Amino acid sequence: MEKKLIDEMIGLAVAQLQYSYSPYSHFKVGAALLTKSGKFYTGCNIENAAYSPANCAERTAIFKAVSEGEREFEAICIVGGKDGVLTEYAPPCGVCRQVMMEFCDPEKFQIILAVDKEQYDIFTLRGLLPLGFGPASLQ
Ligand code: THU
Repeated sequence: MEKKLIDEMIGLAVAQLQYSYSPYSHFKVGAALLTKSGKFYTGCNIENAAYSPANCAERTAIFKAVSEGEREFEAICIVGGKDGVLTEYAPPCGVCRQVMMEFCDPEKFQIILAVDKEQYDIFTLRGLLPLGFGPASLQ
């Protein structure tokens, strides 16, 4: 991926931290999803007093995109930290990895984990979810 595009995605994910609704964990997460058609969908984590209905930033972004007719994705950038302070990577939880598995080619989908525009790493979905169960498993 081009550095300019990576920087743009990191900027969009960081900008989502201001919308994070996380009064229980105080852990703010932001995500920026890039579709194959070149559009961005962003998301933040949204918690709930009943705890389990909480939604992760990645799933917020993916569900926003799918609900608008997008199903083909190129990459996602994720940032997060306690009180929105970014010091280390915020890797996607297992549920989010599974949701990515539903819509993304595990060999090609890029997951950018970032602290800032200088400190980031790019993983494939396959790398973060080896032997993942997906739509192809049901064929
Ligand atoms: N969280 C995310 O938004 N994405 C992840 O993949 C990991 C966890 C959120 C959920 C919860 O609001 C907070 O981080 C602490 O777990």
